[in-house]
Amino acid sequence: MYNKIIVFEGIDGSGKTFHINEVSKYLIKKKVKFIKFREPGGTINSEIIRNIILSDKSIFKTKTDLLLYLAARNENYESLIKPNINKKVILIDRFMDSTIAYQHYGFKINKKIIDDLNNFVLGNLKPNFTFFHFVPIKHIKKNISGKKNRYDKFNKKFYKNVQDGFMKILKKNRNKLLIDSSKSKKYNIELIKNKINKILNIHD
Ligand code: TYD
Repeated sequence: MYNKIIVFEGIDGSGKTFHINEVSKYLIKKKVKFIKFREPGGTINSEIIRNIILSDKSIFKTKTDLLLYLAARNENYESLIKPNINKKVILIDRFMDSTIAYQHYGFKINKKIIDDLNNFVLGNLKPNFTFFHFVPIKHIKKNISGKKNRYDKFNKKFYKNVQDGFMKILKKNRNKLLIDSSKSKKYNIELIKNKINKILNIHD
């Protein structure tokens, strides 16, 4: 049951953080051992890197951003993923697909370079399952407003490119479930829990 990496992806404000927290509560109830972290962030070192990347005071060049995301990921790989991979379920709020979606489809950095960097840090490691949160375009603005991070200044077109990018990446991935953020919380939580039961072989 334990060698599972389950990732929650989607654009800002798509509800993935809410859902990963709901899954955490559910796994505690079911006494399943797990760790949960976010990217960028995770370990003490990755959180330091997160603060550097997402601070309003430090707007870096896009290639610098890319390298910082990967630097934070390496800290997580070495300190969180490697030691827990066969011992606990690993829940991650954003992972390697976010880098392709934002840095390639959003900021137009060459995809091969990002693939190579992900590969340099993670080797062959891939998520076992991805919950991809989809925000219908007309809801995008509404969901993002009120959030404070450095990408808030980007427009709807940017988020549409990023979301379309996620779609392209995930089209090739059979181990995923699309979550429509405009559906009710109750509906989505039920959908996600049912899938978690299947993935982790949990019986109600
Ligand atoms: P955060 O406030 O954590 O956003 P959310 O709660 O929506 O996940 O900010 C993370 C930001 O970092 C988000 O705008 C996406 C961006 N990001 C990248 O651009 N590339 C990456 O590889 C990762 C992991 C995140």
